Amino acid sequence: MQRNVMQVKEKKNRYTVTYIPGDDSGFDVMEAAMIVMQTLNPPIDWVRADMGWCMWEKSCKEYPEGDPKRNTVPPETLEKVKNSDATLMAAITSKSGVKGFKSAILQLRQIFDLYINFRPAKLYPGVSTPLKGDPNIDIVLFRENTEDLYSAVEWRPLPKEMFDLHPGMERFKDKSEVAVSWRVYSKEGCDRIIRAAFEYAKANGLKSVVNCNKANVIRATDGMMKERFLEIAKEYPEIEAREENADATAMWLIKNPQDYQVIVTSNVFGDILSDEASQLIGGLGFSPSGNIGENTAVFEPSHGSVPKYAHQYKINPCGMLITAAMMLKYLRLDEYAEKLEKAIGDTLVEGKYLTYDIWRDRGDKDWETKAVSTLDMAKAIAAKIDPDFDKKADEICAKAKEMCAWEHLV
Ligand code: IPM
Ligand code: MG
Repeated sequence: MQRNVMQVKEKKNRYTVTYIPGDDSGFDVMEAAMIVMQTLNPPIDWVRADMGWCMWEKSCKEYPEGDPKRNTVPPETLEKVKNSDATLMAAITSKSGVKGFKSAILQLRQIFDLYINFRPAKLYPGVSTPLKGDPNIDIVLFRENTEDLYSAVEWRPLPKEMFDLHPGMERFKDKSEVAVSWRVYSKEGCDRIIRAAFEYAKANGLKSVVNCNKANVIRATDGMMKERFLEIAKEYPEIEAREENADATAMWLIKNPQDYQVIVTSNVFGDILSDEASQLIGGLGFSPSGNIGENTAVFEPSHGSVPKYAHQYKINPCGMLITAAMMLKYLRLDEYAEKLEKAIGDTLVEGKYLTYDIWRDRGDKDWETKAVSTLDMAKAIAAKIDPDFDKKADEICAKAKEMCAWEHLV
């Protein structure tokens, strides 16, 4: 029988989890998560690691330009991720146009072969969707996470000999500059993400899996993914398998989101469609994601590090906390995950302690005055988990601050 990769291999009494605050507002939401996690108290030993822009700057001071040791991911962070049952990261800052700089999360996806990017879009109670009639939105998206245009096989400029590789390049020969990024798919890469999606649907009693592609135009790559999808679908006769054009999916997701349960798609289409799906459930502030492979998994909220609010405790902690709940399920700690999800939902429904974005999206004209900080919202959630939270709050909050100290990195 195929192993369920959406969970750790074996259930343990205690787990080791590496936590990576990352950069900027990542520290704020990780501190919020540590307040809630200490209150929830799952059997986890936490190991701190750092990566992202802060580590890039540090390595630039240590190593000369061109040295491969200049990196956003230090070797000790890789070791910790490798030796943990799972990793929880907050958000990292990526800057384009910096020579030698490589995105930390893209490196982890490749190094640990985290081929599933699992991105559910579920509407939490108390959160408003921009869609009419408040439909019940509960979609899970399986994005292939290692291939496609993310394979990092690129040329700029394209070397002369490459123009002879394909007759289609003839019309580009006279252009002043030509850049090419290869879209690489493998059959194994298609098969494993498609199987993961069907297995998930089967395990969770879901009725349909939709593959979004552009097989009508991009025949070699998406043609292969579509073909593999239809072939593998035969192994799951109880599940409806639909394939459709990704641009049509982008449209139908807004019109008829209830028609989607499980989506399986390529890396780039998944990147775009998952951001779109997140808007249906209140935005990136509520969007979790898991990068999952055979041996480990790295969980991160879908939102960025919001540098303009760094260390100001402004941003919504829900994405980070829902991500932590996803990680707890991966660790087979479902009872803790459910408790956490309920506390988040109850806090949203109660509607008192909410960050600025939630008030604003609710259309409240007093959103600026009503907004509470990232940590105050986390404390409200912690109080839903433990009615005695207030008595321990000072100690828990001090520990969370210490766990997410950033001052020594700047
Ligand atoms: C995401 C992000 C990343 C991606 C970036 C930060 C490299 O957009 O996780 O969706 O493109 O995959
Ligand atoms: Mg993205």
